[in-house]
Amino acid sequence: MIAIDGPAASGKSTVGRLLAEQLDYLYLDTGCMYRAVTWAALQQGIDLGDETAVTHLAHNIQMEIFPVREGEKDGRHYTVHVNGQDITWELRTPAIDANVSQVSSYLGVRQEMVRRQRAFGQRGAVVMVGRDIGTVVMPDAPLKLYITASAEERARRRTRDRSDQGHTASYDAILADVQRRDQIDSNRQHSPLRPATDAILIDSTDQPPAAIVNAILQMIQEPVNGER
Ligand code: CDP
Repeated sequence: MIAIDGPAASGKSTVGRLLAEQLDYLYLDTGCMYRAVTWAALQQGIDLGDETAVTHLAHNIQMEIFPVREGEKDGRHYTVHVNGQDITWELRTPAIDANVSQVSSYLGVRQEMVRRQRAFGQRGAVVMVGRDIGTVVMPDAPLKLYITASAEERARRRTRDRSDQGHTASYDAILADVQRRDQIDSNRQHSPLRPATDAILIDSTDQPPAAIVNAILQMIQEPVNGER
């Protein structure tokens, strides 16, 4: 089990995905689950301020996450279905960015998502990425990483991602969103974003993902090679 947490667009998903590929582990980006609940709530016209209604939705939503299949070469890293519909790209819109932190602040929503994440973790060799993986979802994970980067660098990366995906992206708007989400995620009452006490802190501001992945792989291999 490898738990990776960190603020918005810190590079944690890229590092997690590459690490899972290298190790042949399963990969779960838990952020997409909160995004999927937010998408369904918006689609059904549910008032996002209505905690009871949003929590009810989170319990009843039928959500499936699949690895990328042949023919799905559109840059996706996994496929998300809600009630049988492929909503993978719908999860990355500014409307979801703007609302997901409110949805994820609700205790009942979190409890249900954590239950599903732990069930996924039961499958064994897993890299799980999010905000509370090392602190709440998998507190016994033997390796916990907390990946950060400056807000400006994170906004630059997200702006690049968005324009690579063919969307118009304003750096200023994205920086404001990243900072606002960090603020809500770090100060919420339930499972706020913070590193586990035994997490390894990694600043990715000046390091490409491949370098971070190599450093982590070395970290994992050292005790094995050293066999004292
Ligand atoms: O990709 P990015 O870092 O921008 O966000 P994400 O990982 O997709 O997460 C979207 C939002 O879901 C976060 O801003 C949190 O509000 C919430 N989240 C959470 O509360 N707990 C998690 N384990 C993962 C995401």
